[in-house]
Amino acid sequence: MQTKFDLVVIGAGPGGYVAAIRAAQLGWNVACIDKNAALGGTCLRVGCIPSKAMLESSEKYHEAKHSLAEHGVRVDDLQLDLAVMLKRKDRVVSTLTKGVESLLKKNKVARFQGHGRIAGAGLVVVETEEGAQELSAEHILIATGSSVAPLEGVEPDGDRIGTSTEALEYQEVPERLVVIGAGYIGMELGSVWQRLGSQVTMVEYLDRILPGTDTEIAAEALKIFKKQGFDFRLGSKVTGARVEGDGCTVECEGDEPIHCDRVLLAVGRVPNTSGLGLDEVGVETDKRGRVTVNEHYETTLSGVYAVGDCIAGPMLAHKAEKEGIACVEHLVTGYGHVNYDAIPAVVYTHPEIAAVGRTEDELQESGVPLNKGVFPFRGNGRARTLGDVDGMVKVLSHAKTDRLLGVHILGPRAGDLIAEAAVAMEFGASSEDLARTCHAHPTLAEALKEAALAAGGRAIHA
Ligand code: NAI
Repeated sequence: MQTKFDLVVIGAGPGGYVAAIRAAQLGWNVACIDKNAALGGTCLRVGCIPSKAMLESSEKYHEAKHSLAEHGVRVDDLQLDLAVMLKRKDRVVSTLTKGVESLLKKNKVARFQGHGRIAGAGLVVVETEEGAQELSAEHILIATGSSVAPLEGVEPDGDRIGTSTEALEYQEVPERLVVIGAGYIGMELGSVWQRLGSQVTMVEYLDRILPGTDTEIAAEALKIFKKQGFDFRLGSKVTGARVEGDGCTVECEGDEPIHCDRVLLAVGRVPNTSGLGLDEVGVETDKRGRVTVNEHYETTLSGVYAVGDCIAGPMLAHKAEKEGIACVEHLVTGYGHVNYDAIPAVVYTHPEIAAVGRTEDELQESGVPLNKGVFPFRGNGRARTLGDVDGMVKVLSHAKTDRLLGVHILGPRAGDLIAEAAVAMEFGASSEDLARTCHAHPTLAEALKEAALAAGGRAIHA
């Protein structure tokens, strides 16, 4: 097998495999290394995709149990077949990971299974089951992603005390589940098990949920999640968790311990940058272990690049993809750029939460004069027909220029609706541009138009 490449990518997650394909499309001779047999990284194997499959299935169950009757649809004798639900999730994952495999093949990207390590400028060693193999590379791209952040005093046992990986595999619905950390992962996987019948307690160190999201939106979401039956302990720091008999105890600073059946640790993620030989070859990392890169994703060692969760910025699959593409396009064509002001983010709870651009808090802190338009979904016809009226759209634009600076959505299908706002921001649109664009009726997207109208003080349906 060939061992000399224009580009060797370490990691076949959304950052790595997409960069490999793009470089191959541009005529480069590319190799991609991943230690896992299934490609697609955390996102496809144990992250975004399986969690969304479980969110979809659990939502259907919850709907059948609680809201179909309102539509005149009676479901007698409703039963949960968790084994089937888990199998379906596994099928979705395996279809997609195999899809990545065939995409690499189609684009003639050479695939190596094993642990990749940089042995020097232009040299990568892959530790495979058959032994070490040397690959020489004109360029090397580190796209090794991130892993679950540990928490002192909480030792995952791979069963009762676990991470998101275990929480995608519970073989029965825990009666009482404690989630440590009310961030993206905690809220999404907490939602899955809450819908399937668990009593879920979210323990969060901060006095709010979903740090990083707009404060007003997060506060509204909190009210909705409480109504759904979540129990929240905010401003509470977990200091330990241990298995006791066939249950667990979670210790919180200055608060009563909590007894439960299972614990999900979701206090963030850390970059995968150890074991890659970075120190030895002179690739610098910062104090959080992230690879230091310049605006073209080049590290401190010439010819070595890094993208995705292992560098600074939000740990999002689509951010990694954009960086992977920008990095190789810049290398091959001289052009490649990511607009960090227009990267959307979605939390797949019910209702969904989605945002692009800056939060109201950030804009106020930096003293930017704002136009703000808010429109509640209860004023939207399509939301009424869906029976899904919780939440709102918030549009923020510059008070002088009206340029869109942030759009925040809490509501049905927010994750899909945000795409329109992302396109608008990418094109430097104003809130008036959004407001004057004809939106089909009746659609949820009309709520976005109305919020944009409201930013100009002229909402029709408010
Ligand atoms: P996160 O950073 O979103 O939330 C972690 C939470 O844990 C924070 O609210 C933090 O205050 C809390 N915490 C930390 N120490 C604590 C303690 N001792 N006791 C109680 N609470 C404590 O991290 P999360 O949810 O683990 O997600 C990791 C990354 O994965 C995020 O950067 C996110 O962007 C990404 N992700 C994205 C998803 C999406 O796009 N839909 C879904 C899941 C994850």
